[in-house]
Amino acid sequence: LRDKYLTAISGAADEAALEDLRVQAVGKKGEISLKMRELGKMTAEERQTVGPKLNALKDEINSALAAKKAGLADAALDERLRTEWLDVTLPGRPRRQGTIHPISQVWEEATVIFADMGFAVAEGPQIESDWYNFDALNIPGHHPARAEMDTFYMHRADGDNRPPHVLRTHTSPVQIRSMQDQGAPLRIICPGRVYRADYDQTHTPMFHQVEGLAIDKDISMANLKWVLEEFCRAFFEVDNVELRFRASHFPFTEPSAEVDIRCSWDGGQLKIGEGDDWMEILGSGMVHPKVLQAGNIDPNEWQGFAFGMGIDRIAMLKYGIPDLRAFFDSDLRWLRHYGFSS
Ligand code: PHE
Repeated sequence: LRDKYLTAISGAADEAALEDLRVQAVGKKGEISLKMRELGKMTAEERQTVGPKLNALKDEINSALAAKKAGLADAALDERLRTEWLDVTLPGRPRRQGTIHPISQVWEEATVIFADMGFAVAEGPQIESDWYNFDALNIPGHHPARAEMDTFYMHRADGDNRPPHVLRTHTSPVQIRSMQDQGAPLRIICPGRVYRADYDQTHTPMFHQVEGLAIDKDISMANLKWVLEEFCRAFFEVDNVELRFRASHFPFTEPSAEVDIRCSWDGGQLKIGEGDDWMEILGSGMVHPKVLQAGNIDPNEWQGFAFGMGIDRIAMLKYGIPDLRAFFDSDLRWLRHYGFSS
């Protein structure tokens, strides 16, 4: 009996087989348990010799079972350690991390700076009606500004004689929409995409502007100048920003000014606030009374300034990038070169 069980136990393949053996040998109805029950029918002397032997056998089998069980568990652990082995000294596989496009970064920064000055963000459609993009901004049908803007037109169906919609050529139509929606006083910026059929080193058919509009009872050109200088100081992170207001003409502002920023191209290295170069960054002026009227605001009561700044232009300046087209080539090598991507 002893040999039978000890051999079986040492050969048990797994814990389930071991449990079967335990039941067979020392379970309630196991072979050894039954033998112990028979002790009752024996004489006293017989019991004295057989009893201790059975007890010893039971102990021996129990400890063999326990030992084998522990052995099986060790083996299982060894197996897991072998198969789930992990080399923590292997170098990691680098994962390229995506980054925010420089234009989006500049868009964000500009929004934050103007927000600090109390400008809320307004939005408008990129496919705009002829009226909002032109007429409401005092650019009537025959006006040369329409041709100058290299407008993309959306075609109407044959026989539909209404003026075609356009891809907005500037963010200025959002001025009108905001005036109509919110009335005066008003202080908004509108960052967004605009479109013109133009393509060279400093022009792409889609580009970005941020429009600014402030309307109140006593807003003046002085406020405009302060806001723009303050913006440039914060955006370019230089104290000695110098802006040049050049008299200009826009149908929707009177007077109008184009604004240049002093900079230098020093061996390909761009510096803001020094040197003898001037880079145009925006158009601006006092909102024309007709434009206020188109926005349902009384020009006898209110006045304001407006500006439209090229987001891509100020991004080129900030990062010293000479060709605007590269912004939209989606070339990762270029983005990495300028530190825009990992
Ligand atoms: N809309 C003008 C442009 O795109 C810029 C501008 C905006 C000028 C507001 C004056 C006032 O060129």
